[in-house]
Amino acid sequence: MLSIALPKGRLGDKVYKMMTSAGYECPDYADNDRKLIVESADGTMRYLLVKPSDVAVYVEHGVADVGIVGKDILMEDEPDVYELLDLGIGKCRMCVAAPVGYEDDQERTLRVATKYVNVAKKHFMEKNRDIEIIKLNGSIELGPILDLTDVIVDIVETGTTIKENNLEISEAFKDISARLIANKAGFKFKNEAITEMVNRLKEGMEE
Ligand code: PRP
Repeated sequence: MLSIALPKGRLGDKVYKMMTSAGYECPDYADNDRKLIVESADGTMRYLLVKPSDVAVYVEHGVADVGIVGKDILMEDEPDVYELLDLGIGKCRMCVAAPVGYEDDQERTLRVATKYVNVAKKHFMEKNRDIEIIKLNGSIELGPILDLTDVIVDIVETGTTIKENNLEISEAFKDISARLIANKAGFKFKNEAITEMVNRLKEGMEE
């Protein structure tokens, strides 16, 4: 049996569609979003339905053999896993966004709201820009609106959230999409099943 950690929420629906068209359908998955573990009818697949930011945790620790997770989370947490495939779904961009018309004063420390602390630190360090990070866990756009921070670092998909909150992208610095990842030991011991999954997902992408 292969265990796969899948993200709940916005990305989850797209992932499940992709799994279905690759032949990994699981009726219980679609029926019941309260259950956290479901199995395929033929007993070959076990699905763990977890928070997107926890997918790589389960895979790194081997509780799941494989998982599907956003590149944003892989960049932030740098888990010790194999990244096998770019699935081309959940596409968005990692951005710096600021209030419309904001002008950066390089003399001042830039205050940054984000849940991607490591990504933001690395990005501004490469630019030699002094920053102070304020970590938020959601609704990051509130940072500049309430003058808690000057800018945000966050993922932008449609752009609706920043627009509705009077912010604009000042820099888009990384393309993000969902990735298939594997536990390093699991990849060795369950190589056949995992390789088959990679191939079937790839075929599904080409159709
Ligand atoms: C993400 C992100 C933005 C929003 C961007 O938040 O943090 O707020 O999506 O999407 P858009 O460009 O399509 O508007 P999410 O919905 O994951 O919730 P969160 O604010 O709780 O992190």
